[in-house]
Amino acid sequence: MKQEPPPTPPLHHRYQRKRLVVFALKKFTKPIAYFILLLITYFLGYLSAPFSTSNKPVVTSRIPLETIPATTFMSSTTRNSAAGTVADHNSFSLQCVDPVSSEKVRQTVLDRVFHGKSPWQNFPPAHVSTFLRQKRIRGWGSTGAVFENLVRRVRPKTIIEVGTFLGASALHMAKLTRQIGIKSQILCIDDFRGWPGFLDKFRDIKMVNGDVLLMHQFMQNVVYANATESVLFMPFSTASALDKLCEWGVFAELIEVDAGHDFHSAWTDINKAYKILRPGGIIFGHDYFTSADNKGVRRAVNLFARLNNLLVELDGQHWVINSS
Ligand SMILES: C[S@@+](CC[C@H](N)C(=O)[O-])C[C@H]1O[C@@H](n2cnc3c(N)ncnc32)[C@H](O)[C@@H]1O
Repeated sequence: MKQEPPPTPPLHHRYQRKRLVVFALKKFTKPIAYFILLLITYFLGYLSAPFSTSNKPVVTSRIPLETIPATTFMSSTTRNSAAGTVADHNSFSLQCVDPVSSEKVRQTVLDRVFHGKSPWQNFPPAHVSTFLRQKRIRGWGSTGAVFENLVRRVRPKTIIEVGTFLGASALHMAKLTRQIGIKSQILCIDDFRGWPGFLDKFRDIKMVNGDVLLMHQFMQNVVYANATESVLFMPFSTASALDKLCEWGVFAELIEVDAGHDFHSAWTDINKAYKILRPGGIIFGHDYFTSADNKGVRRAVNLFARLNNLLVELDGQHWVINSS
């Protein structure tokens, strides 16, 4: 028997179903497309991500030594790129401008570092004043005979101290120049951070929001010594400050180097400081005999003297190099 075809739904039913399909397509196509796009993106990201889950940096490429252009100094052609870069350690190539007169030294630093305004104006600021002691001085060999010997010998108009801390040696030199009757300007370079852990031994030097008040205490010591007219400071890293002095033409007849005592710090400071030593001037420093960092200071001083054909004199714990 022939089966009867299912009855055709009435026309308005068919029309309603079609509307339902159109509605469903309209409603869900966009989210589905987004979802698929999301899946593809995630999958691609997964494929391109490094497969390591550790924190080690991923080395993406290495530069073969041979492709690094050889720098100067060596004339041989093979494998001299390494030799050239080693020679760079002895190269402090910044050219200093002509020196400004000694009379202009203070103003030059005031203008360049402090926008022409004395840092002692309105000192101390309210937020640190209660933390400062009237005078808090501590140094290391800071009043040794070498200071008087050199101040009398050189009669410096400008003295630069590289590494100042609380100002013990700087203020000793200020006192000496006064006693001897020389008008000197003393420039102290220090970032006034001390060194990691120094507060364990200097618990009375306070910290405000992680900022240790070494610079403010140094400034207070200068005020106490009545030396704000003869002492000025540059609160920066020694290397950057010395380069700037060279760029500004600020030279000195006497330079003391007493900042970082490891070989590389001492080496850099001595080389950069020597550039701004006036002809015939003297550069000197502490800790020639200490065993810190396997006598880093002594090795730096000796190497510097040897490379520049200079003599190292000794005065107590200090080394002294006369440029003339
Ligand atoms: C041994 S203390 C100086 C003592 C001072 N000359 C005295 O006898 O009273 C060393 C000083 O060098 C500073 N210093 C060390 N490395 C430095 C750097 N790279 N830049 C700036 N200052 C630095 C420290 O903040 C510290 O105050």
